[in-house]
Amino acid sequence: KMNTFISNLMSKMTVDEKIGQLNLLTGGEATTGSVVSTGVESKIKSGKVGGIFSLTTPARIRKAQEIAVTQSRLKIPIIFGQDVIHGYKTTFPIPLALSCSWDMPLIERTARIAAIEASADGLNWTFSPMVDISRDPRWGRISEGSGEDTYLGSRIAAAMVKGYQGDDLSKNNTIMACVKHFALYGAAEAGRDYNTTDMSLHRMYNEYLPPYKAAIDAGAGSVMTSFNDINGVPATANKWLMTDLLRKQWGFEGFVVTDYTAVNELVDHGLGDLQEVSARSLKAGVEMDMVGEGFLTTLKKSLQEGKVTLAQINNACRLVLEAKYKLGLFEDPFRYCSEERAKNEILTPEHLKAAREAATKSFVLLKNEGNVLPLKKSGTIALIGPLANTGSNMPGTWSVNSDLAKTKSLLQGLTEVAGSEVKILHSMGANLLADSAYQQRATMFGRDIPRDKRSEEDLIREAVNTAKRADVVVAALGESSEMSGESSSRTDLEIPDVQRRLLAALLKTGKPVVLVLFTGRPLVLTWENQHVPAILNAWFGGTEAATAIGDVLFGAVNPSGKLSATFPQNVGQIPLYHAHKNTGRPLAEGQWFQKFRSNYLDVSNDPLYPFGYGLSYTSFAYSPITLNGKAFRTGQSLTATIRVTNTGKTAGEEVVQLYLRDVVGSITRPVKELKGFQKISLQPGESREVSFKIDEEMLKFYNGDLKYVAEPGEFKVFIGTNSRDVAAADFRFER
Ligand code: IFM
Repeated sequence: KMNTFISNLMSKMTVDEKIGQLNLLTGGEATTGSVVSTGVESKIKSGKVGGIFSLTTPARIRKAQEIAVTQSRLKIPIIFGQDVIHGYKTTFPIPLALSCSWDMPLIERTARIAAIEASADGLNWTFSPMVDISRDPRWGRISEGSGEDTYLGSRIAAAMVKGYQGDDLSKNNTIMACVKHFALYGAAEAGRDYNTTDMSLHRMYNEYLPPYKAAIDAGAGSVMTSFNDINGVPATANKWLMTDLLRKQWGFEGFVVTDYTAVNELVDHGLGDLQEVSARSLKAGVEMDMVGEGFLTTLKKSLQEGKVTLAQINNACRLVLEAKYKLGLFEDPFRYCSEERAKNEILTPEHLKAAREAATKSFVLLKNEGNVLPLKKSGTIALIGPLANTGSNMPGTWSVNSDLAKTKSLLQGLTEVAGSEVKILHSMGANLLADSAYQQRATMFGRDIPRDKRSEEDLIREAVNTAKRADVVVAALGESSEMSGESSSRTDLEIPDVQRRLLAALLKTGKPVVLVLFTGRPLVLTWENQHVPAILNAWFGGTEAATAIGDVLFGAVNPSGKLSATFPQNVGQIPLYHAHKNTGRPLAEGQWFQKFRSNYLDVSNDPLYPFGYGLSYTSFAYSPITLNGKAFRTGQSLTATIRVTNTGKTAGEEVVQLYLRDVVGSITRPVKELKGFQKISLQPGESREVSFKIDEEMLKFYNGDLKYVAEPGEFKVFIGTNSRDVAAADFRFER
């Protein structure tokens, strides 16, 4: 039915109208490039617009759609997109934080709620999930993905697509997903945004590509190209990537959109002029051109000059029209435009409750010496820091729709949760950054972060006096949300100096200090880990972050988040990740330096906090692993079992993690790869057996010929509370 409908429609379309469908414009509410679309209305009338992004609300979208379906010749509806990345108006924790919940139903639900709210506000397409694996926290966009791990990232990619698209894309409360950024954007050299990537094929296939594939297998309707160069051919012009891999090997049936002006940027990549790069991009497998209008202004000429074929234009046009058909837009172009829904389905108490729960589950307790946490609900707390009294920092990057008026500051959130027995004193103590940094790049750091004109010494003096009047100090420090995200790479990953000096002064008072850390990336916390008794990493927790932090600080919720990206000891260790190779000269177990071994002179190879790490207010004991056999063959499996006991006094959740090592392979294999996990909840004293089935599928990898195989031989299985602290056992896979 769809094919006939579209063939019929296309038979009436001129070449210009077909090319028009390949054009994506911005409504201009949120832009990340220098170009903003112009003459949108007249372009819609003349059939030159296939999609619009960053235009919201039923009224505005209805207006644009009305022009398309009443005033353009063929009345083809427009698709409306937006960066709905971690929630819509109800904003959830940034994706990196959410991934630390390791909670798939929860993550799927956040995407479902985002879809409900976005579609209630007129949208039918989101530029999410962002599934770029990143092992470089210098890269600001590590905040937008699920961290360093292929397996966890793939599971999350699939959960998010399911959440957005549901089981029927034409329902008015589901939206089309767009998996991005295809591909390898997170592997930018030196963590510098938009930078080159160069990678072996087997690393790509084994480590970086699976999350994109997982999203596509889950049915993602669209794919966004990345800005970066891949082994000499930028993604947006990369035929191997978009045609050979995506279409032919993976069987992708949706459409490919570029990133913002990415076609035009091929000129700067050095591939030719706009006409040439537009033709190359279409031929490589791009269907829709975001904002730059290279397709719109040059493809017809290229057709006339024989540089592209009509079949190529037809194919792209068909895929865009198919997406609109699947969204039900031909049946009812206004199905997402309901003022009623916009009024009733956005920022509902139910959504806000989910946001609060998601935030509590994304926080990671990094240190809790002497059980400083949870705090008592009595006495005096000194809440200090530049991030203590601002709500604007809570949503984090890519939260363009977040309702800041609804976002409480930590001071408000703690006050609400603490109750009447607790007195909260507040001082700012320091600015986010030193004055010189503000002067250089004031607009780049911290929307609405308060800034105090007094001297650093005066601010610290006041904060120390406040701290002295309290029983405990809560220091709200770290990054502003603008310090991570797009175009926010950093080479220094420590807490800004001015804040560190404040922290040192607070510690000197002798009061117990809890650091509530705001960050969009793994930071270097070596000094803090050495000196501060308690550290709660709150990331950027979204609309309900403030009360959620209160829930965790006061113990109403026991933290259970586990890091999805390694925290290094210093920047020089980067990239540092758990699934690394052994090398031919590995360090001996337990050593931190040996001459002529793979290590550094000045720092051990260990991370500060390993992948999978996160503490709880209770403690968990792990038994040794029992295996129900020593070996298995194709068609069989083994079961690995471990007993986990809550040995503390509080109920808690634990993510039990399973890693495998293929000891001998036809190509080198990682020392540990995450292959499974289970999140369990245990009452104090409760003990439970947790079992994992190990089958052939879990042993497979892409070999040197890029064949996906399991190789017979020796394996190790590790189960534990994080990637470092594990029990181990051996087994064999035999033919
Ligand atoms: O979706 C984003 C992308 O992640 C970065 N560039 C702009 C796009 C549209 O806003």
